[in-house]
Order: sequence, then C-alpha cells, then structure tokens
Amino acid sequence: MNASEKIHNLAGYPPPHRLLHTAHVPGRAAYNALVAESEEDYAGYWARLAHVFVQWKTPFTRTLDSDNAPFYKWFEDGTLNVSWNCLDRQVNEGKGDKTAIVFEADDGTVTHTSYAQLLGMTCRMANALKALGVKKGDRVVIYMSMSVEGVVAMQACARIGAIHSVVFGGFSAHSLRDRIADTGAVLVVTADEQVRGGKTLPLKALVDEALSMGGCEAVRNVLVYRRTGGDIAWTARDRWMDEMASAQPDTCVPEWVGAEHPLFLLYTSGSTGKPKGVQHSSGGYLVQAAATMKWTFDIRDEDVFWCTADIGWITGHTYIAYGPLAVGATQVVFEGVPTYPDAGRFWKMIERHKVTVFYTAPTAIRSLIKAAEGDAQLHPARFDLRSLRILGSVGEPINPAAWEWYHAHVGGGRCPIVDTWWQTETGAQMITPLPGVTTLVPGSCTLPFPGIAAAIVDETGEDVPNGQSGLLVIKKPWPSMIRTIWGDDARYVASYYPPELRGYYLAGDGASRDKDTGNFTIGGRIDDVLNVSGHRMGTMEIESALVACTELVAEAAVVGRPDDTSGEAICAFVVLKGARPTGPAADKLAVQLRNWVGKEIGPIAKPRDIRFADNLPKTRSGKIMRRLLRSVAKGEAITQDVSTLENPAILAQLNETH
Ligand code: WTA
Repeated sequence: MNASEKIHNLAGYPPPHRLLHTAHVPGRAAYNALVAESEEDYAGYWARLAHVFVQWKTPFTRTLDSDNAPFYKWFEDGTLNVSWNCLDRQVNEGKGDKTAIVFEADDGTVTHTSYAQLLGMTCRMANALKALGVKKGDRVVIYMSMSVEGVVAMQACARIGAIHSVVFGGFSAHSLRDRIADTGAVLVVTADEQVRGGKTLPLKALVDEALSMGGCEAVRNVLVYRRTGGDIAWTARDRWMDEMASAQPDTCVPEWVGAEHPLFLLYTSGSTGKPKGVQHSSGGYLVQAAATMKWTFDIRDEDVFWCTADIGWITGHTYIAYGPLAVGATQVVFEGVPTYPDAGRFWKMIERHKVTVFYTAPTAIRSLIKAAEGDAQLHPARFDLRSLRILGSVGEPINPAAWEWYHAHVGGGRCPIVDTWWQTETGAQMITPLPGVTTLVPGSCTLPFPGIAAAIVDETGEDVPNGQSGLLVIKKPWPSMIRTIWGDDARYVASYYPPELRGYYLAGDGASRDKDTGNFTIGGRIDDVLNVSGHRMGTMEIESALVACTELVAEAAVVGRPDDTSGEAICAFVVLKGARPTGPAADKLAVQLRNWVGKEIGPIAKPRDIRFADNLPKTRSGKIMRRLLRSVAKGEAITQDVSTLENPAILAQLNETH
C-alpha cells in the first residue's frame, strides 16, 4: 500500500449522501439507536424484529430460552412456515406477478419466474415429496446444480416440514454418501447432469454410486430433475421430477411448525473429524435472514439482487433460497461460472439484468482483476454497470487492493461495499457495514449488525483492548445461530462453547478492533480449517483422504499457504510406503494423489502442491510440527525454534521441491 492510499484509507469512505436519509437504517444515529435498544432489552429487540420480518401462524410468548444453554431456543412456542413467508405471503401482498427469479443458464438462456409461479412449482414439488412418503422431520438430501428447481426443492421441503441438506454439486460420490448416511435421508433430489462452463458433468450417476456404497439404506427414492436429457442409468427407486410434479395439484397447505423445528442441515468442515452437520432452526433463522437481507443490502421493491454463491453453501441458503424471497425481492440465479464464455460474464450479466445489488466473493474478484489486467475487453469499464448501487463481499477477508478495485471499477466509486463476516454456523450476517450508516475502511468488516454481541477476547475469555488481536467470540446467543451438530450435541458444545470462554460462542477466527473506530478486521482461522477460494476445508479431512490411499501413502500432513487468488492453497506433505520419488516419478504420483483426493472429497479439495518426504517433522512426543510445514510451504526460511524436533535433518529434504 503506498502512502497516499494509506491516507485515503484512514479517512475511509463515508456512506452516499442520499442513503443517509433514505436507507432502511438511515445514518449513524439510527444505527446507534438500534444498538442501544438491543443493549437495554436484548430479547425485546429481537422479538420486535421477529414481528417486523416474519409472519407467524401463532405468535410466540417467550423470545429467548437460555435454560439449557448453549442449547438456546428462540421464539419456541411460535409457529410458522418458512415457505409460506417466502411465497404465499408475497403473493398475498400483491407480488404474484413480480419476478422472483431471473435464471440465466450456462449458455445464456434466460427465464423469468414470478412469485405466483414459484409458489405453484413449490406446491407441486411439495405434493410430489408427500406422494413419495416424505413426512415432517424426514431428511431430504439435495444434490443439484444451480437452478430454479434447486430453490424449489428447498422451499418444498420447508413447506412440508422436511429437513433438507444440500450437498454442493462439486462434492464426490464418497462425500455425498457420508452426508446421506449421517442425515439418514429418505430421499435424494438431483439432476440428470449439470452444465457448467460449457461442460456437462454427471450428478445422477454420482448419486447412484453413493447409494451403492452402503450406509444409505434409508433412501427410498431419487427424484431427478431433467436438465440435459443426457443418458443416465435408471433404477426402480428413481422418479422424474417433471412427471411427478405435473401430476400434482399446484396448491399445498403448509405444515405449520414450531420455531425451533429444524429447517436444514448443512455440512461444514471443522478442525477435526468428519464434516459437521450444522443444524438450523425455522423461526430464528428466517428472522435474521430477512432482517440482514433488508438492512445490509438496503433492499427495496425495485432492486435486482444477485448473489453469486452456490445453493450448496450457506451463502446460497440465506441469500438465494430464503433471504431474497422472504423480503419479496427480485433476484438473479446463475447456473454457470464467472469465466465462461469469458471472464466478462459477471459484468455482462449485471448489464443485461440491470443488477442493483451484487454480492460475491473476494476470490472471484481477484481472479476477474487478473483477467481484466490481461485483456482490456474483460475489464468492467467495457460494460454498463450504472444500475449497481450496492456491492457485497463474503467468505474470506478481502485484501484492500481488491476492495479498491471492486469499489472503483465495478462500483464506479459510488457503491458502498458491504464486507460481511459470518459463517455456516451463524446462519446469517453478523459483522457488516450498513450502506446508509458505515464509513467503510477497505479490508474491515466494520461493526456488528445491531443486536449481535461480537467481541474479541483472550484464551480465558477476557476482553482484549482495541488494537490487539484475539479470538473472535459472540457473547450472546442470536436468532439464526446453529442449534447443534446433527446427532452430536457433545461435539457442538466442545467445538463452539469451550469451558474457558465463559459461555461465549467461539467463532474460530482471529480478529482485532481498530483503536479509534472499533472496526473489526478478521485475521483468518485460528484452527486447522483452510479457506480455499472461500470454501472451508479441514486439513484433517484432506489428510484422511490421502492416507485412505493405503496402497501408496503411509502418512500425510496438510497445511495452507497464502495464495494471491484463492486466498489459501492446499499443500500436502506425503510420506509414501515405498521409496521417496523424485523428478518425473514424483510428478506422476502427485497427479495420481491429487485425483485420488478429488474422488474422495471433491475437486475443490485437490492439493495444489504435493511434496514427498521420508518423514514428517515431529516433536519427540510424535506430534507433527505444522508451523514448520507452513513455513516450508511458503518457501520461508525456518526461523522458529526447532529444538523440540526429533528429526531436524528432515527440514532440508522438505525444502527441496520434490
Ligand atoms: C471466513 C461463509 C473475513 C471466516 C459465509 C469464517 C470471512 C469462514 C468473511 C466461514 C469476511 C467469511 N471477512 N473472513 N467477510 N466471511 N469469512 O462457513 O474465516 O463457509 O470463519 O461461511 O469464512 O466460512 P463459511
């Protein structure tokens, strides 16, 4: 960062003048008033928001129940239906003909689906699920490409009180099997194939493979969306979605559920063990999804919102499948990838659909900067982006240089950027600028959403002063919080509520606050979780996948190293059962192991670097010294104390490329 940039950053970017008065949260005084309200009467504040943002079938009488903390309950005796709030409610309020989803397929074909149509599709699908015997509380795994039907499948589950678990379409059959088995799903929704970047990729075939692995005996049916019409194998349990749905009526009385009824499970990586099934509620989740949708993006009736996430991740749940619909917005849903047919696709789509609020990830921004630098035709300046008014960022820290570029070249210098910090576990945004309130500082997610008690503490739970780094915690429960890890209450408590932290939620990120403004800056994970292109992965998961290759691998250690585009890159250190390979033999084995990990977990988990060694650096007690491996991966000189190392000679070998 040069000197003038620094001065600029210090001053920050104040909110656009017009938003100071017209935004849903208009100006700092309005923000302060909300914060004060939440501090004076925490439950009362959230109860008020719960009435503003959600329509209840029967109102709740108790807002927050902390009797069995950290198993908090919100709005427990209230009943509602999430799909009714997202669809019927909009139709009832006169938005039946309003476009809910502008879908753009990989090849550029566009379809518009109105709220009334989306409701009809959801009801047909809900009836189809019921016809297949799916009942309230049953789990349904959704393994789908980005599509209107994917959103409809989620909404249909919500309508009948079934609990969905969406599995990202880039996960392998093996990962899919693990999730189907852990949830005990009775039905899988999938597509024949998916289309991304001009290529056709299998989905249904992977479901077949997953189901053949065992552990998925509860699955009775597979409901298949006909996306490509490609040739697929067919079994007695398979049903075509279009045939099932068209035979069903387009109305379906919603199942009114208690606020704590689980809406979905979403698997995410932790530092140890298998991915955890994060369980979310219906009522509290919807309250915060809708509130953040409205306030963070300042959504208005005429907006065209576009969140580029996949429905397989939490961002696609909260800011595609639920949030935009809960506030009656029009949104763009995109099937493809940002680089096809070229890296101008995002800008072209913003121009084409007159997108006003655009929400994407730093990794996408960084790769599009690179593309624009390489080819002027792909620069956002070539496109008409004047429709944009607010930009968002999510998933990983955004470096100030990328922030400045996004602000200047995509936002034309006039659009506030909301850098939103949150997690699969938090369900909705937690620390974020608000467009009409916040003076933006590139690289900082600024201040908590009103009502969120974010803080930075040391290992004993003591507050650390502003200016110092520590552990990011949330001191009070919040409505859209994780309720438990599916089937593993003990792991929920151990992962997020360690005894030394006084009942605070441990986010797993390091962070600090600015001395003057109190703004939060996220440093990154403090555990063995990697963030590669905004995707969370546990180092242990990748290590387990590598050692599962029992023919070849004796031992493996995985660390992250910083990467300009993807944030972090996966580096694996592998000890083979046979001799340490070098030269072309090592290259060949590295390719083989990369593909192995791709099969075990999914292509996103393939290590960027694989280095072979005779051994791993270990302490005398046998613990792998990952901090040394991190330095080696970065190509740094080892300056750390290596006196506890049992086998110091191994360092020299690790430093060789292969
Ligand atoms: C990181 C994604 C910095 C963080 C919604 C967190 C961020 C993890 C930001 C959660 C941000 C997310 N600034 N870091 N604005 N947003 N992260 O569960 O490390 O996929 O713990 O949820 O992403 O990733 P997850």
